[in-house]
Amino acid sequence: MIYTRIVGSGSFLPRTVVSNNDLANDLLYRGIHTSDDWIVQRTGIKQRYLAESDIDTSYMAVESAKMALIDSGIDASDIDLIIVATSTPDCIFPSTACIVQSKLNAKHAAAFDLQAACSGFVYALSTADSFICSGKAKNVLIIGSEKFSRILDWNDRSTCVLFGDGAGAFVLTASSDYGILSSCISSDGSMSDILSVSGHFENGNINGYPFIKMDGQSVFKNAVRVLEESAREVCDKACVDIKDINWFIPHQANIRIIKMLGRRLGVEDDKLVITVDKHANTSSASIPLAFNVAKLDGRIKNGDLVLIQGVGGGFTWGSSLVRI
Ligand code: ACO
Repeated sequence: MIYTRIVGSGSFLPRTVVSNNDLANDLLYRGIHTSDDWIVQRTGIKQRYLAESDIDTSYMAVESAKMALIDSGIDASDIDLIIVATSTPDCIFPSTACIVQSKLNAKHAAAFDLQAACSGFVYALSTADSFICSGKAKNVLIIGSEKFSRILDWNDRSTCVLFGDGAGAFVLTASSDYGILSSCISSDGSMSDILSVSGHFENGNINGYPFIKMDGQSVFKNAVRVLEESAREVCDKACVDIKDINWFIPHQANIRIIKMLGRRLGVEDDKLVITVDKHANTSSASIPLAFNVAKLDGRIKNGDLVLIQGVGGGFTWGSSLVRI
């Protein structure tokens, strides 16, 4: 039996921290009213990191990958595959993954981008698991990297306060002992309208709305529903009882989604890893960023059982149950 083990993790956050009060003051200049109270009560977000103009998605991806490679002890030249989950690639092509491959000098790696909005990282983890378990790859680097500030409409207070920038990475390798015990990914394209960036290039112009548009209440309701279903699905597949899971790392979009999910699954609050207060929603980067915080502060230890869950535009969602 071959398992996919997480042997290294890394993260990157831009230098600029913007508190809710800072953001509220900036937005006031545009005539947009919001407040720290409103943002904290509805979302749990207290601050976000925003990338400077010279920092792009590939830069953040490379920095997080370097840290994950050092943590794993695996050399970039031994990586067989690089998957970058992003909805904010540097350009249409080459893929951000190819730019990362070049910057890391990972000469033997195939590289591609994967787009599943905020579920991108769980999709990348599940895809990498399939490559490793089928014997098609031994060492895989997966990265979630986003410069979401590029696609925020700063005149839309219902979305611009929710997101931040950053990147996180895992190095995965084949193991005969343990690792990913089960995973699932799902989509429902009929809900594409509730969360989208519909703008696209056409003959040199941008057609459509090039910023995030969201029906917040539909996203909230459906996120809780599908995250609960997919948590139960991966636990059933692996014959694991939810109460035996040490750490829950759901996509960090909103504290109320995370807490409601925890209540539905019967999970104590202290098993939920929460970073949305500090990072805001960093889309495909949110899970590896949260994982790395809990690993570095000593909460996640070898042997722990961790549930990783993503949900986002598409509508897409997925989970992986991992023995660390
Ligand atoms: N500051 C102050 N007031 C605001 C703001 C703001 N930033 N944004 C909206 N409001 C106002 C609205 O205009 C509205 O005012 P009105 O009653 O006078 O019309 C009022 O607040 C309530 O607006 P709602 O949209 O009904 O607020 P709601 O309680 O639904 O909260 C929120 C909005 C936080 C987006 C919520 O729906 C939510 O958390 N949804 C989940 C979506 C999410 O987290 N998405 C992240 C991306 S998706 C993903 O990653 C899976």
